[in-house]
Amino acid sequence: MKINTAKNIQGTLRLPGDKSISHRAAILSAMAEGNTRIQNFAESADCASTLKCLEALGVEIRRDDLTVIVKGVGKKGFSKPAVELDCENSGTTMRLLSGLLAGQNFDSVLIGDRSLQKRPMRRVIEPLRSMGARIDAEGNHAPLRIAGTNPLHSIDFEPPVASAQIKSCIMLAGLNADGETSVFERIPTRDHTERMLRWLGADVEETELPGMKKLSISGQAGLTAKDIEVPADVSSAAFFIIAAACLKDSKIVIPNVGINPSRTAIISVLQHVGADIEIFDRREICNELVGSLRIRGNSGILPRTAQNVLNGPIIANLIDEIPILAVAGTQLENGLEIRNASELRIKESDRISAVVNNLRKMNASVEEFEDGFRIENSELKGAVVNSFGDHRIAMAFAVAGLLASGETEILGAECAGVSFPGFFDMLSSVTIM
Ligand code: S3P
Repeated sequence: MKINTAKNIQGTLRLPGDKSISHRAAILSAMAEGNTRIQNFAESADCASTLKCLEALGVEIRRDDLTVIVKGVGKKGFSKPAVELDCENSGTTMRLLSGLLAGQNFDSVLIGDRSLQKRPMRRVIEPLRSMGARIDAEGNHAPLRIAGTNPLHSIDFEPPVASAQIKSCIMLAGLNADGETSVFERIPTRDHTERMLRWLGADVEETELPGMKKLSISGQAGLTAKDIEVPADVSSAAFFIIAAACLKDSKIVIPNVGINPSRTAIISVLQHVGADIEIFDRREICNELVGSLRIRGNSGILPRTAQNVLNGPIIANLIDEIPILAVAGTQLENGLEIRNASELRIKESDRISAVVNNLRKMNASVEEFEDGFRIENSELKGAVVNSFGDHRIAMAFAVAGLLASGETEILGAECAGVSFPGFFDMLSSVTIM
């Protein structure tokens, strides 16, 4: 894919549904009693993997463009799959389904592509085993061979890293446990699972304790089907927000974006450095906050702090936006430093190394750390860069290409479809050359 320098971007963008919420909508409505109509379901390949796995577990699913109708089977109505369940590139599919499958009365195998086979699964295997699950996984990597156990034992568990996927896995397993399962969270992570469990009628008790939050769910809780509307994905919006903020005289509107506070640090960070982002028409849909965004590039990004350093708990809130934030960092007078982000090394690619390599190819001055990087204000020059098979790297460097002089070529850009199949068409439709 080739990208050329842009003057600015203009237009109204209807972005695909939120990937995290779509995964949960599919899985939880499958566990519910009754039929759920999910509107604006994410077009992403990852969410299609989740639907395929659920179908292999005996769930009837009808899909008509962006509307998905799931015929819920209840917590215990899944059937033994005749095939291995292929999560392809999707860590969320594998980690959330492992929680669901651990408490079933049948055996199943979760497999994934080469990237997913390298990603750490000990973080879900260990707590599930402590609930009595029987899981075989060589080196704690996929394939995961799960011998279902029902009921599981309820546990009190503090995840070893801040991760919504681990939290959600254990809460789903908790729905098939013999008592009350609690997850203790020191650093807040995205809370879509808790919100959707409540939307579907399951009580998730939340207690504030010194320095942490306790989330509890009873193994007795059941889910009842209720229609779900998925807001646009703020992580997909981030590419356009940053392109507009960095390109003078840009003006874009993005309606119906999910602005769940556990996901919007990207907006506050950009506002802090001077980006002109307005949120209007705020409302609540299906227990999630939604708003429309207007971004103007007339002021550009202006550094307000002497040193732009992001570290600590905020990192979990913007973990998926760090590749595109790194691109924005090249446009900040004082650059940008990201620390405490070593989780980035074990995402769909090693995102620290991918960002550092590609930005250096584009003439940026970058220092790499084990847990992040420091990016100096740099004039980007077009270059041949690599997606490293990672959707967010492909899209981040498309935006870098708009900001750079000359032509940028992204190798393996088609992986953008993992979260956003129409990304390059939409980008070119709003770009003014
Ligand atoms: C996700 C949680 C995050 C995020 C991923 C989606 C989710 O991962 O990076 O893209 O939907 O729960 P971790 O929870 O492992 O940090």
